[in-house]
Amino acid sequence: MEIIHVSAECYPVAKAGGLGDVVGALPKYQNEHGQQSKVVMPMYRTKFLFSNEWELVHEGQQQMGQHAFNYAVIKEKNNTLGFELYLVDINGLLDREKIYGYDDDTERFLAFQIAVCDWISKWLHKPGVIHCHDYHTGLIPFFIKYAFAFRHLASVPTVFTIHNAQYQGQFGWEKFYLLPPYDTAQWGLLDWDHAINPLACAIKCAWKVTTVSPSYLDELRQSANGIENLMQYERGKSVGILNGIDADVWDPSKDSMIVKNYDDHMVKEGKRKNKKELAGHFGLDPDKPLIAFIGRLVGEKAADILPDAIRNSIYQHHGNANFLVLGSGDAQVENRLDEVKHQFNGYVNTYMGYNESLSHLMYAGADFLLMPSRVEPCGLNQMYALRYGTIPMVRSTGGLKDTVKDFGDWQGYGIRFNNADVNDITYSVGRAIDLYHNKKDLYNWMRTYMMHLDNSWDASAKDYIQLYQSLQ
Ligand code: ADP
Ligand code: GLC
Repeated sequence: MEIIHVSAECYPVAKAGGLGDVVGALPKYQNEHGQQSKVVMPMYRTKFLFSNEWELVHEGQQQMGQHAFNYAVIKEKNNTLGFELYLVDINGLLDREKIYGYDDDTERFLAFQIAVCDWISKWLHKPGVIHCHDYHTGLIPFFIKYAFAFRHLASVPTVFTIHNAQYQGQFGWEKFYLLPPYDTAQWGLLDWDHAINPLACAIKCAWKVTTVSPSYLDELRQSANGIENLMQYERGKSVGILNGIDADVWDPSKDSMIVKNYDDHMVKEGKRKNKKELAGHFGLDPDKPLIAFIGRLVGEKAADILPDAIRNSIYQHHGNANFLVLGSGDAQVENRLDEVKHQFNGYVNTYMGYNESLSHLMYAGADFLLMPSRVEPCGLNQMYALRYGTIPMVRSTGGLKDTVKDFGDWQGYGIRFNNADVNDITYSVGRAIDLYHNKKDLYNWMRTYMMHLDNSWDASAKDYIQLYQSLQ
């Protein structure tokens, strides 16, 4: 089947978080299962663009309100990622270095979606399914059903995956004129709470809706940033499919971004060497348990409580653990982390910014990975940690609940806690220190065991394929 993934991110072309990882891996695994899975995304000006070869496959012109724009679609010549990759170029809108964060993001992603629909509607055949990811592509299921120009695609099944319902892409009805001409009797499908809401519209119009873990789907029916009623209403077409990881990219025995490669037979030695490198670089003590945090410094990840949680843990546990934080986001959180770093020099260090290779070294060299997330639709970090023999310390929510079992339970291999607060984190740090120093056999067994868990995309890629097949 021909599967067209439409997304704002795809690793290694452009990545801001887990969405990029998912779209960079799932199509490859689907192809390994005999499908023809492809990715279409905006052509930002990132390194990948300049270091690969491309061919022009289509040029077109479309209208967005008063504004006529030209677009081009280019294809990466050698399928280096294991799938066909198409980039949509729109000068003046998509030709930027960053993915998000511009004042005209609404217009940028609208134009992108219009161009994608126009291009696909020009094909001589119809694809088997169009799979859209997150709100940036959420209007496509509506456009192909109700925009007059694209209507002959109306019979193409659409699947919409919610990676994060916190971001819905709402914009005011005063911008309605930017949409391609559509059957206005259907305006209600665009609307949620008196605004045009691309995420809600996708949930209403897509043939199937998926979330990136089963627990997140349950949670969205209770709390979903204002769309919980809609999630309840559309329960019949919704299903939770757990994300996987790209086991080729995230493999400690081959990873070129770490200092010492290792597998489950030499986890102790391998991790020790990577930790030594990290500890040396960041002025930490290699003999103490190293607890890492990697992620966006935002409320969802509970990054705002990290500074106090680290401070409290150091006091309560007499400095018996070290902390290393890699992230960027909220400026206030960054400043407060900076204060903690200076206050506890030698115990805490931080790297404020985005650094892919440092993240790999941290998964390899840290002993524990802390994820106190308030909201975690799936979370990939904990699965990378498992693959690298690093014990995840997670709040019991969303995908974290579906992938980590507490070591107090039968065959558990992680640390779980219930609340995103300073007390629960401090208590869990105590459990981590105790495990590290006093329960060495269990600790070593856990590391080897977790490295064997198969969290690759294999199983979930099949689940998606079955879902598409049910729509044919
Ligand atoms: P989310 O998509 O909500 O940010 P995920 O756990 O799904 O959360 O994915 C986060 C991805 O982004 C992981 O690959 C993680 O390693 C990566 N990441 C997050 N912040 C950074 C950073 N500052 N530097 C490098 N990689 C990061
Ligand atoms: C989102 C979620 C994260 C998930 C990722 C990939 O960014 O916040 O939990 O792992 O998408 O699906």
